[in-house]
Amino acid sequence: MLINKELQNFKSATTDVLVVGVSKNQNNVANWEQFIEFFGGSIEQWIKEGDIQTNAKAITKIPVFSAEAKVKRVVFVGLGNRKDLTPDTLREAFGLVGKTLRKHKTSSITLWMDSFETDEIPASDAVIFAAEGMSMGAYTVENYKTTSNEADVRLEQVSFISNTDIAELVAGYEVGEIYATAVNEARTLINKPGNILTASNLADYAVELAKDYDLEVEILDKAQLEELGMGAILAVNKGSKEEPRMITIKYQATDKWEDVVGFVGKGVTFDTGGYSIKSKTGIVGMKGDMGGAAAVLGAMRIIGELRPNKNVIGVIGSTDNMISGDAFKPDDVITTFSGKTVEILNTDAEGRLVLADAVSYAKQQGANYLIDIATLTGGVITALGYDKTGALTNNKAFFESFLEASCETGEFVWQLPLTENDKKRIRKSDIADLNNSPGSDGHMIFGGGFIGEFVGDTPWIHLDIAGTSDARSSYDLGPKGGTGVMVRTLATFIERIAEQA
Ligand code: BES
Ligand code: ZN
Ligand code: ZN
Repeated sequence: MLINKELQNFKSATTDVLVVGVSKNQNNVANWEQFIEFFGGSIEQWIKEGDIQTNAKAITKIPVFSAEAKVKRVVFVGLGNRKDLTPDTLREAFGLVGKTLRKHKTSSITLWMDSFETDEIPASDAVIFAAEGMSMGAYTVENYKTTSNEADVRLEQVSFISNTDIAELVAGYEVGEIYATAVNEARTLINKPGNILTASNLADYAVELAKDYDLEVEILDKAQLEELGMGAILAVNKGSKEEPRMITIKYQATDKWEDVVGFVGKGVTFDTGGYSIKSKTGIVGMKGDMGGAAAVLGAMRIIGELRPNKNVIGVIGSTDNMISGDAFKPDDVITTFSGKTVEILNTDAEGRLVLADAVSYAKQQGANYLIDIATLTGGVITALGYDKTGALTNNKAFFESFLEASCETGEFVWQLPLTENDKKRIRKSDIADLNNSPGSDGHMIFGGGFIGEFVGDTPWIHLDIAGTSDARSSYDLGPKGGTGVMVRTLATFIERIAEQA
């Protein structure tokens, strides 16, 4: 894509769509007079009369009549009150622009960046939110229909009209695109059916990703997991014909492999619940039980591309959770990679088992900080709904710096408590060190708390994305389906701590 075309003025714009930010008071926007002059004085009248809407996130499309203009359409983006405009609103508004551009099969756009500036948001930042929002908003779910698969029209050219240095805008646009592309890749993985994306397919994807971005990758197969004694992931895999995989990707930024942040993702490619089988409605959608793995892969893609100065390891435990004569059962006792034993009370609480081994492995591979991320419990949906990621932590300072990154990306994260009493219940078993399902009361905490039993003193954050990983309907930044939640926050967190170091 060509994204470095600088334009002097509106006359020189040859483009499908010119994108313009509008608020009630446009007087402070540089070149507004010139814009009015070129496109006709009626624009101000249209704003006054509400034909062009200025409320936040309102999109107004106007075809261009003027014979002189080489612009087919102007898309006005309502910014509300400029002084109240936040990065989140701007990003979402551009999500809607992305949907509009896709609908009109747009291949070239001109962004009038000065029209999006506010006192708080310079054009050089606005352009990042623009690229991120447009490309996330324009995403469509890959389907397998044999008919009516319309060819995608891709944006081929982006130009800018701005007083800001063109190189700065181009660089910002590229960063936004890198972030959005990683989110969209994660979405595509999440949306893939369980028969099309198995653990070994996920591992193949990771190998390709590592190749593309010059990252170190290791794939452990079933025999290797057996040799290492990873009894937890193997127990979950026992009923399946598909082999499990433990996937590790390393990004080494410094000479020494030290001060390593570990991302650990749940990669359950389909969760039937096992013998504690899910209901016929509860089972639908469980192809997305690898949303945590997708988030880790998406974040590693961004990190591989932007190369921050921070060592990062991504570990993904992947298998499906199936039923057969070989499957693990309630009452079984298993031995995890760490040596700790677990009494199985519920085979549907499989994610915490997979993650127990993955977390232990990440530690063994040198992770000094751990963030696990998983579609772990329905409990988090009961507690926080579908728009908030639930969190647990054993380290306040670590969590707070993560929270800053999540505020920047607009991905809402809320911490729940993990008390000594909760831990006591996780450790309650007559015949093993732990049990995998202490009860249904507040059970998001038991799910994450179980993983906490394997992190020791390592600073740790648990992220339960069961509510946020899959959108039940389309939203400003994307369609129904996989959201790619936490891809941007994980990567932003690494970028920020790398800058601070
Ligand atoms: N994969 C599910 C959690 C889930 C639920 C993800 C809804 C996405 C949407 C997880 O493995 C699970 O089944 N958890 C159980 C745990 C329970 C048996 C202790 C749950 O939350 O009901
Ligand atoms: Zn389950
Ligand atoms: Zn699950």
